[in-house]
Amino acid sequence: MPILYDFEKQFFHLTNSQISYVIGIEKEQYLTHRYYGRALPFYAGSTALQQIDRGFATNPDENDHTFSLNALPLETSTQGTGDHRISNYQIRSVNGSNITNFFYRDHKISSGKPELPGLPSLRGEQVTTLEITLYDAVQELEMVLLYSLYENQPIISRSVRFNNLGTETVFLENAGSMMVDLPTTNFDLITLNGAHTNEANLSRQPLHSGIQKIESSRGTSSPQHQPFLALADPSTDEFQGDVYAFHFIYSGNFAAQVEVEQYGSSRVQLGIQPENFEWCLAPTRSFQTPEVVMNYSTTGFNGLSQTFHQLYQQYLVPAAWQKQERPILLNTWEANYFDFHEADLLKQADLAKETGIELFVLDDGWFAQRNDDASSLGDWFENLEKLPQGIAGLADKIHQKGLKFGLWFEPEMISRNSQLFEAHPDWALQVPNYPLTEGRRQYVLDLSQTAVQDFLIEMLSSYLSTGKIDYIKWDMNRHLTEVGSLAFPANQQKEIPHRYVLGLYRVLEVITSKYPDCLFENCSSGGGRFDPGMMHYMPQTWTSDNTDALCRSQIQYGYSYLYPPIMMGAHVSPVPNHQVGRTTNLQTRGLIAMSGNFGYELDLTALPASEQEEITQQIAFYKEHRSLFQFGRFYRLQPANEFFATAWLIVNEEEAAVVYFNGLARPAVPVNYLKLHYLEDSAIYEDLTTGQQISGAELNHAGITIPRIKEDFATLLFHWKKY
Ligand code: DGJ
Repeated sequence: MPILYDFEKQFFHLTNSQISYVIGIEKEQYLTHRYYGRALPFYAGSTALQQIDRGFATNPDENDHTFSLNALPLETSTQGTGDHRISNYQIRSVNGSNITNFFYRDHKISSGKPELPGLPSLRGEQVTTLEITLYDAVQELEMVLLYSLYENQPIISRSVRFNNLGTETVFLENAGSMMVDLPTTNFDLITLNGAHTNEANLSRQPLHSGIQKIESSRGTSSPQHQPFLALADPSTDEFQGDVYAFHFIYSGNFAAQVEVEQYGSSRVQLGIQPENFEWCLAPTRSFQTPEVVMNYSTTGFNGLSQTFHQLYQQYLVPAAWQKQERPILLNTWEANYFDFHEADLLKQADLAKETGIELFVLDDGWFAQRNDDASSLGDWFENLEKLPQGIAGLADKIHQKGLKFGLWFEPEMISRNSQLFEAHPDWALQVPNYPLTEGRRQYVLDLSQTAVQDFLIEMLSSYLSTGKIDYIKWDMNRHLTEVGSLAFPANQQKEIPHRYVLGLYRVLEVITSKYPDCLFENCSSGGGRFDPGMMHYMPQTWTSDNTDALCRSQIQYGYSYLYPPIMMGAHVSPVPNHQVGRTTNLQTRGLIAMSGNFGYELDLTALPASEQEEITQQIAFYKEHRSLFQFGRFYRLQPANEFFATAWLIVNEEEAAVVYFNGLARPAVPVNYLKLHYLEDSAIYEDLTTGQQISGAELNHAGITIPRIKEDFATLLFHWKKY
């Protein structure tokens, strides 16, 4: 059994060939954290708890002054009984107090990975799950800590379930998904932060005393912070070193924090953000928290990323899409915005077909009076002035050309200026007597209401059941305000942020399982809700509304810490670029887009013939090597320097490609011998341009000389076939 329970010594040892995680039971009551890291053949108890009679320490056992919850490494916090560090949960009882006394009661070890009701979570094979139940006898409450250990990956997933076995309703004021006390503070804290059009910037800072926290209170996971943190040994880099990572499978408000505490340990805690949360837990009811993925690497950040990439591709995205090749798409947004007519679209589609594009995606602007962003969200019927035969007619014509057809929706939104809002003003999120705040001139539907969820399921089904839609881009373009619901009583209003997410998950679950052949792309003004929760339903995400090649080289580099290229929509767009005004050449735009989930987003009919020809060649090249770009292993080789030069490697069993982005050209560049690190040392690789044969060892350890390039933003492709 990969999870061992030692009754004599009172500990659990979760282990596989890569990691060990040890939990102790103290005084038959408290769960302590004893070890997390490289695999141990067995755990004998070397990490004894240090028990000293300390000043100011509170002692739950009056006969033992060396025992204090404030100093012990714990697996979950306690509440009001002496653990004063950040808390993983808080319960308000019927008498208004926040005191609980959860003690170990029993545990269960079983094989398999449980699904979490109503929530996205990892699937898994060869997984063993430990459920430890803690019990508060005063209020008859259970807190169940779930740990699922993956036998073949350095992965443990964690979550918590609260069960009310008592006779009184209690209120969960905080329901975190995991916490752990690691025994050192000598870490760098790694997070991914940003903004709309500037997502996934890596931050690396040494931990310091006190609490370091990232969070979202925007109703979505947000482009501001990825629901993720990692703690790395200060010497860790892309290629070597130890790092612990924690990633939250959730799409709403979250908090991820670390507390450096007084006696030299680091408490890590992740969960739903508590300030905007409360849950009314009536007798007999349960509350299940979302899941946290814990990933541990001894081979640096690239090692960490490889585990995430493989895990998410295998056990997070819908199983049907795990190995499914993705079509090369043309999206109409940056070509047309709201201004188009079917006749223009068909011309663009003709050329798309000629160049080799496979999927034609009609973005925003196809419905009701949607000629700008001021109206019509919610009125999901075709604008017949733009599309005389409606969506069905356009889809037929696109299909007749031999292309697949995709369509944009923003289902969660409602425009003030819409028939839907006139008919159902009560369907918007709102708080009585307060005006609704607009964002991108729209309101947000109250997805906590079953009627609203059903409306969306029915509306989307009416399109998908025609069999004419091969792809849906699911957009969501504002954050939540006035997060209240007319359908719930006052004492449940703080449930609405979480109920919104649960409602969204229900709609996604129903729609994506009813139409498994439709490819769904997640989008929230680009990467505004790029998180593993959404990825559970939709296997790819529009990475950023910033399509400039330079910016994209960095945004995709940042996201690659967690997600493989196939999950990151990346399009060749017009120049000068619409977001930053920069002009980059077509080769650069092509190679940066191929390093993600490849597509185009420009008016092909407006391009000179030479560029149409270059695009045809790009597409032919990509099709020949699609399996490398979509399913190869992606390794970061060089983070952007101050001149924005950066490089990465994509490799599979047959071939290897390095994409080198030059950034700003300079006359006196230091010579760059770029080492590839991840090829097979003993294999021979043939350079597909020069025919030169080189050993993997030479490419890995001697490297390749990057030529001096006298052009800003030029990008080079080095490409080898393996013998
Ligand atoms: C935001 C998305 O990120 C864009 O790609 C585009 O779909 C617009 N919304 C449409 O309104």
